[in-house]
Amino acid sequence: MKIIYHGHAFLEIITGDYVILIDPFISGNPACDITKEDISKCDYIILTHGHGDHYGDTDFLAKKFNATVLAIYELAVFASKKGLKTHDLNIGGGFNFPFGRVKLTPAYHSSSTIEGGYAGDAAGVLLSAEGKTIYHAGDTSLFEDMKIIGETSKIHLAFLPIGDNYTMGVDDAVKAAEYIRAETIIPIHYNTFDLIKADEKEFCRKIESIGKKCTILKPGEYYEL
Ligand code: NI
Ligand code: MN
Repeated sequence: MKIIYHGHAFLEIITGDYVILIDPFISGNPACDITKEDISKCDYIILTHGHGDHYGDTDFLAKKFNATVLAIYELAVFASKKGLKTHDLNIGGGFNFPFGRVKLTPAYHSSSTIEGGYAGDAAGVLLSAEGKTIYHAGDTSLFEDMKIIGETSKIHLAFLPIGDNYTMGVDDAVKAAEYIRAETIIPIHYNTFDLIKADEKEFCRKIESIGKKCTILKPGEYYEL
C-alpha cells in the first residue's frame, strides 16, 4: 500500500489496482502539491466529514471518474443528491470493499455540508488492505474512546491532526498516539493556514520520546506500508 500525502488532510492511497482518496481538498488548499486535473485515477473517495477543507473537490473527481463516495449516512445522502455514486456507513460500522475494509470511527468534531446543511457526525477512518491498517483520525479532539479504537484494531500507521484551533494540537495528539497504540504516526492538518500553524518537528520529538515512530511527509511525499 502506497500512501501519498497531498497536504492538509488529503491522502491518496494506492493498493492493488485501486486508487482511494481521503478528504480530497485540492482547490483552495494552499498546501496541496497538485491540481484536480493531475488526478488520473480515482475509484473511491472517503470523506471524514462535510467541511469544505475535507469535502474539497469530491463533486468534480467523483463525477469525472465515476468514483464511489464513502461517507456517513447523511453526508452520503447529500452527495447522492448531487448525482454522485455513494456507499453510506455509520460510526462503528465497517464494510469489505474490493480493495479492503473501511470502518468509520468516532471523531469529536462538528460537521456540516459545504452549503451549511446537516451532514451527520464527523468520523475517523480505519482502512485495512494488504494485511495492514491505517487510521485517519479526521478532525477531532483528543477523546478517551480512542483507546477502544486501538484495542480493537491493530493500527500500523496513523494520521493525526496537530494544527490546534479546530482539532487536537501537538500535546493532545501525542496523547492520542498513546491511546490508539499505532506503530508509526504521521502529522496532518497543520500549516495549511495561519490559524493552524504547528511545529511538526516538536511533535515528532515527543512521539519518539514515548517510543513510537514519527514520519513527516511534505505534500507530494509518500509512505509505503
Ligand atoms: Ni472540520
Ligand atoms: Mn478540517
